[in-house]
Amino acid sequence: MTNLSDPMVLRHGRPLPNRLILAPMTNQQSHANGTLSADELSWLVARAEGGFGLLQTAAAYVHPAGQVWPGQLGISSDEHLPGLERLAAAISATGARSSVQLHHGGVRAEKALSGHAVVGPWNDAQTGVRGMTTGEVQQVVEDFAAAAARAEKAGVDGIEVHGGHGYLVGQFLDASNNLRQDGYGTDPTGRARFVKEVVHSIRERTGPDFHIGLRLSVERYGLVLTDMVHLVSELLASGDIDILDLSLWDVAKLPANAPEGSRTLLEHFLELPRNGTALGVAGHLASASDVQRVLDQGADLAYIGKAAIADHAFARRAIADPGYRAPSFPVTRDHLRSEKLGESFVTYFATNWPQLLEN
Ligand SMILES: Cc1cc2nc3c(=O)[nH]c(=O)nc-3n(C[C@H](O)[C@H](O)[C@H](O)COP(=O)(O)O)c2cc1C
Repeated sequence: MTNLSDPMVLRHGRPLPNRLILAPMTNQQSHANGTLSADELSWLVARAEGGFGLLQTAAAYVHPAGQVWPGQLGISSDEHLPGLERLAAAISATGARSSVQLHHGGVRAEKALSGHAVVGPWNDAQTGVRGMTTGEVQQVVEDFAAAAARAEKAGVDGIEVHGGHGYLVGQFLDASNNLRQDGYGTDPTGRARFVKEVVHSIRERTGPDFHIGLRLSVERYGLVLTDMVHLVSELLASGDIDILDLSLWDVAKLPANAPEGSRTLLEHFLELPRNGTALGVAGHLASASDVQRVLDQGADLAYIGKAAIADHAFARRAIADPGYRAPSFPVTRDHLRSEKLGESFVTYFATNWPQLLEN
């Protein structure tokens, strides 16, 4: 039986001290140029002190053209290095590990923020999005690799490629829209090529002490579940990734339109040979028993999102008390402030999840 407090040895990089990971959460607290702010540092360090074994940053853009949110963290330039160094050192001092989530918005990027034309795998005359040339696709693969190398230089323990939720990496996997004819689209092999090249080029550019994670959605966003199962099994076999993070929004969810009693989304992935890669899951984990249940099912790691907003010390408390449950939502703005969310994060949260906030 796996316990929440068990360390996790990864294929590459320092072992994780326990099974609880702070899920990546956009918080709009960075400076306008993407450098780390004191508020963002304090939000993450509070969770490191609160017992999480691995602290995942918010989605950080690997190129300015990929920026989606104001106040988004950047990792596209050496001007971002000093902040990332401070982050790595502060988290390491608590005994926890750190990881930057590497992101590019693709067709969902915001020109008004970045000043760059919006590009993605396909053209969209209505929105003015331009399909990337093959050369541009290969340049973005390089941008991901350069960002990972920057994270390693800063002393961060690893990265997670954001392949979930319909951003650029996920757009390449989109069977409805990615009809590229240049080997990066059209069929399952073509659609999978971009993400495989991204993780492979990161592996080539970083050392054996640096871990590589990949977050994937497995349905919606134009994804085909059977193709995703196949892709995951190939990625696990390749040895290029150390952590696979399945973003399920609800770990007990059935595939869309599946009849009651069908296998859950998670169950489609649990039995694939892992080849030493750790399998993590995210979605509605709000208590020690929720986490224990997914570990008992066979997951290796649990990503905690909203429950870690509600309680910075979720990990420490869940490890100490099998009956622990995070404070339930809605919570007050003052509660969020006392949990070390800065004003920008409080506003972002209130705007996007108004039902979780008490007025
Ligand atoms: C405020 C907020 C910001 C988020 N930002 C990101 C993000 O930057 N990258 C990402 O992959 N997921 C993001 N997510 C999704 C979470 O990582 C997590 O997968 C999701 O909230 C489900 O887990 P939970 O039920 O424990 O909250 C965000 C979620 C929240 C609530």
